[in-house]
Amino acid sequence: GDTVTVADLAQKLALKGGEVVKALFKMGVMATINQSIDHDTAVLVTEELGHKAVRASSDDAEDALLALVDNDQGEAQARPPVVTIMGHVDHGKTSLLDYIRRTKVANGEAGGITQHIGAYHVETPKGVISFLDTPGHAAFTSMRARGAKLTDVVVVVVAADDGVMPQTKEAIQHARAANAPIVVAINKIDKSSADPMRVKNELLSEQVVAEDFGGDVQMIEISAKTGQGIDDLLDAISLQAEVLELKAVSEGRAAGVVIESSLDKGRGPVATVLVQSGTLKKGDYLVCGVQYGRVRALFDETGAQPDQAGPSIPVQVLGLSGVPDAGDDFVVVEDERLAKEVAQQREVKRRESRLVASAGSRMEDIMAQL
Ligand code: GTP
Ligand code: MG
Repeated sequence: GDTVTVADLAQKLALKGGEVVKALFKMGVMATINQSIDHDTAVLVTEELGHKAVRASSDDAEDALLALVDNDQGEAQARPPVVTIMGHVDHGKTSLLDYIRRTKVANGEAGGITQHIGAYHVETPKGVISFLDTPGHAAFTSMRARGAKLTDVVVVVVAADDGVMPQTKEAIQHARAANAPIVVAINKIDKSSADPMRVKNELLSEQVVAEDFGGDVQMIEISAKTGQGIDDLLDAISLQAEVLELKAVSEGRAAGVVIESSLDKGRGPVATVLVQSGTLKKGDYLVCGVQYGRVRALFDETGAQPDQAGPSIPVQVLGLSGVPDAGDDFVVVEDERLAKEVAQQREVKRRESRLVASAGSRMEDIMAQL
């Protein structure tokens, strides 16, 4: 990109070179008068020195974006629940999801798309349910921070032959932090060593009280191997969702969150997003964290290419300028110019906070040496 020497920048700002060097040092950047600094660093040090380097309109981009989002209004309608599957290692979360997919996804096999998608929606007799598979998700930490926003119901899977284990407790904590109701799936009920009563007793110690113990937590005995009880589990989830009366505006510009992202050799940046409101359409312009772009294609978990995705529906988005971070928000905007402007402005802000952070740690190093 563009670079400028410290001396040239100082001249433009009508300052002494040494003053710019000092300001750079404060930001954690070591540079002499004759050295070049990149464009973003130049912008930041200029602001640090009390000058305005970015175009005046630039600061308005985020405001314009917020105004757009705020102005979006429409009738909220019922939306599918977003369900996160959690639990201790090897208790059968993936097996459960595999079973549900195999038996409930009409189109079955993911045609040609081998890329893992950690979120998918299934059609059940009670309606659509969207599932998030927590293990292996780099996104999980960011998702936890947004827990309540993203997850409506947490299904805690507990193996009936193993009982409550450390990650079972973690899952319960997470559900509580997210303020999301729990449905317990007592799995591996087909095993001779299965002891569902022990599981319920152990959960009681965690203040997760089964209905037959006088509490209000639905606990369903299932086998991800044989499929036993899985319809009952789906019913329990639907029942829990009905109680929540989940709603979203499905008209208008889409907004949501990135669940996971990657750089695909052939397809470029790929983001799996969860649409939370509005409808995401092919051809839409969007800002996604510090990235922007135009939706070139949408993929669902079966490899199909839907033209659009509404509230609670996870979908892969192709066409972004770069790989966004898991947990980033996305929002559809009117045109590419605004999308680009907001994204770039965010990038500058992000660098700024990184520089401040690195300057901080540098100062700590210096202090430590004194
Ligand atoms: P992590 O993702 O590593 O946390 O594990 P997980 O919870 O996804 O467990 P996974 O589905 O990989 O299952 C672990 C093992 O348990 C596998 O060998 C499964 O075949 C087995 N398993 C899962 N569900 C059942 C079940 O209902 N009955 C029996 N007998 N085995 C099961
Ligand atoms: Mg798994």
